[in-house]
Amino acid sequence: MWTVECNGAQIPALGFGTFQLEPEDALRMVDHAIQAGYRHIDTAQIYDNEAAVGEAIAHAPVRREELFLTTKVWINAMRPGKLEASVEESLGKLQTDYVDLLLLHWPNPKVEFQAMFDSLNAVREQGLARHTGVSNYPSDWLARAREASRGPLVTNQIEYHPFLAQKTLQPMLREAGMAVTAYCPLAQGRVFESDTLKAIGEAHGKNPGQVALRWLIQQDGVIAIPRSSREANASANIDIFDFELSEKEMSQVADLADPNGRVISPEGLAPEWDPK
Ligand SMILES: NC(=O)c1ccc[n+]([C@@H]2O[C@H](COP(=O)([O-])OP(=O)(O)OC[C@H]3O[C@@H](n4cnc5c(N)ncnc54)[C@H](OP(=O)(O)O)[C@@H]3O)[C@@H](O)[C@H]2O)c1
Repeated sequence: MWTVECNGAQIPALGFGTFQLEPEDALRMVDHAIQAGYRHIDTAQIYDNEAAVGEAIAHAPVRREELFLTTKVWINAMRPGKLEASVEESLGKLQTDYVDLLLLHWPNPKVEFQAMFDSLNAVREQGLARHTGVSNYPSDWLARAREASRGPLVTNQIEYHPFLAQKTLQPMLREAGMAVTAYCPLAQGRVFESDTLKAIGEAHGKNPGQVALRWLIQQDGVIAIPRSSREANASANIDIFDFELSEKEMSQVADLADPNGRVISPEGLAPEWDPK
């Protein structure tokens, strides 16, 4: 597996997502994912499965240093003092002294901006997180974050898949040396219905999901974090390093972008997204 270099971090290009996995499924699937070759695991406080992820990692047949572990701070814990305490709580559940990456899960207009980034940086400076970044930040928030953060931000974790282009953020992140971490890389399963992805897959002996994931990681500075509750699917999703999409196929997939392609936009949380 290759890694994506971003502002001093080296992040495995394919990670395993754990959103909506109940603790017992998170334990079973993270255990399987590591055995299948995943070295990058994505969780969050709000997923309520950090303890299960931590248990799977504690019993894994690989050393902690070989894994890249991400968690995210929820919006109710972004104030100074609370943020530091909540990271300590996450680390306790994850049974580790540090996460590789700590993200602010959503933009939070209710917390003083500079103070929030000062806390995020303090946590990194204390060694509790090796790297820091943001999630769901549109371009205006990202520009402010880069100014406010005294240390580098390595990624913006955003929804990105064949049905949702990120024409504003992707070049901006590349310019800033930051990675795009593509969440919902399978559009929560919708990619499996696409005739275009099916046809491209058939030419390579791959399924539509493998084409979508390959399309993402074949782009400069893009990381993908698919989730599955089934061992066979998680194994299939990492089996994407033995084929290559042609330039023509890359464009055919990009052409699937749809103005209504966004899957995640929770009311009360979602910021004003960048124009499509
Ligand atoms: N930062 C954020 O706000 C945010 C938001 C959303 C997600 N995320 C992160 O991104 C990760 C991925 O996003 P996601 O979980 O929403 O969606 P996703 O990975 O795009 O799709 C997951 C869905 O695809 C299905 N699937 C996976 N592999 C498959 C295969 N090989 N064949 C058929 N179906 C397959 C899964 O079903 P089965 O379980 O049946 O395989 C599940 O229903 C999350 O788990 C989380 O870590 C972050």
